[in-house]
Amino acid sequence: KRLFLINGPNLNMLGKREPDTYGHETLEDVTKVVKDTAWEHGYEVEAFQSNHEGDLVDKVQLAEGEAAGIVINPAAYTHTSIALRDAVSAINPPVVEIHISNVHNRESFRHTSMLAPVCAGQVVGFGIDGYRLATLGVIQKIEREGR
Ligand code: DQA
Repeated sequence: KRLFLINGPNLNMLGKREPDTYGHETLEDVTKVVKDTAWEHGYEVEAFQSNHEGDLVDKVQLAEGEAAGIVINPAAYTHTSIALRDAVSAINPPVVEIHISNVHNRESFRHTSMLAPVCAGQVVGFGIDGYRLATLGVIQKIEREGR
């Protein structure tokens, strides 16, 4: 049983990037949180990060048949990408969206998510601990739906 962890643009700079907003932990730390949480429930994790919208679309499409569910932080593409939303709509595995920061107390352009309406759920504002919550959430969805 496998999950995909997908991180979007600029998340490769986690730890160095705006630490007041995103904290000091790195993408490697995020991957460890998700892998450890998944492992506790018998899942393995394939982690992917890209700064390129089309590569993220390709990865979401690959989940069909290769992953039981997805944890995704689409980063800035959250607010703009109809292509990523359509990719999420096109596949069966449940997708949980996660944001490190509380996007709702930031600029208004961050208040809208193109993906949220087609995701199984959304976690925002808990720092990188949100990745643990999102992983537990997607596993719960998978197991309740009997996949
Ligand atoms: C983010 C929030 C987005 O608005 C922003 O563009 C990011 C990170 C978060 O995890 O808080 O790059 O997705």
